[in-house]
Amino acid sequence: MLDKINALGAEASNEIKSAGDSKALDDLRIRYLGRKGLVTELLGQIATLPPEEKPRLGKELNALKANIDGALKERQAELARSPVMLKDFADLTLPGFRPPAGSRHPLTKTIDDICSIFLGMGFKIVEGPEIETEFYNFEALNIALDHPSRDAFDTFYIKNQYMLRSHTSPVQVRFMETEKPPFKIIVPGKVYRPDAVDASHSFMFHQIEGLVAGDDVTFADLKGALSVFIKNYFGEDAKVRFRPHYFPFTEPSAEVDVSCFICGGKGCSVCGKKGWLEILGCGMVHPNVFKAVKYNPEKVTGFAFGMGVERIAMLKYGINDMRLFFENDMRFLEQFR
Ligand code: DAH
Repeated sequence: MLDKINALGAEASNEIKSAGDSKALDDLRIRYLGRKGLVTELLGQIATLPPEEKPRLGKELNALKANIDGALKERQAELARSPVMLKDFADLTLPGFRPPAGSRHPLTKTIDDICSIFLGMGFKIVEGPEIETEFYNFEALNIALDHPSRDAFDTFYIKNQYMLRSHTSPVQVRFMETEKPPFKIIVPGKVYRPDAVDASHSFMFHQIEGLVAGDDVTFADLKGALSVFIKNYFGEDAKVRFRPHYFPFTEPSAEVDVSCFICGGKGCSVCGKKGWLEILGCGMVHPNVFKAVKYNPEKVTGFAFGMGVERIAMLKYGINDMRLFFENDMRFLEQFR
């Protein structure tokens, strides 16, 4: 019996060492330690031994069982460390995992798309601070302290005359203070207003401002540049309409409408049955604005315009609630890849 035990131990040890994968190890466990395994069979024979041999051989057999179990575990751990095991749990012929790719936020995409059209017309991109003074946000733009139009540009005040800019127009002034005409600039950025949040309002939103100045810049240039932009952005079939309006920093001023590209101008729920969508404000730069930056309004002429990025993105992509832009819901953002 002892010989058998020793022989079995040697045999098991050899076989376990040369087992090549966990399937082979499972088979060996069954072969030796399974219910009908070789060691189990020997354990079953203990009962038939003479009583004086039982304890010694019983002990030997238990030791053999423990050794085989230990060897199996050791080999299993060894195999787990070796790349041979890969084929046990991975199908190496499957294609790899594609890591999820991010994408631009729809507002970033809208800003990029709009700016690139103007870059194509020779404009350059300029930026300005979001914290402003009354002078840049109002005074230099010909918005008088007591003028009712100041309400439209009301904002959040910080200490010491500082405030969050309520439009990108102050960058016109900052740029002209340091640069001489002729120039064409476009100014994307965030603006702030004390508006309650709803489907079409937010305390923070984005605008793109434009400013062109030089000799003999006319309203025809303004119409031409904005028509090129609108046809590029909304499609060749888009019709453009200029409606007289009032802005303190331009004279004359206009609001610009584009024919509704949902209904083609017939009237639908998006354009409120009007057939037109208002997309921006514009006009010829007011002489007082040129005076504020020490330009001679007798010599320099120019036009300016400003548009709301959220509004344009909502129209372009058929989005009916502005809050979607700021909630960071992946199901929304993923649609703009
Ligand atoms: N600053 C205006 C606003 O926030 C938009 C605007 C209108 C800008 C006409 C302009 C302009 O430069 O000429 O509503």
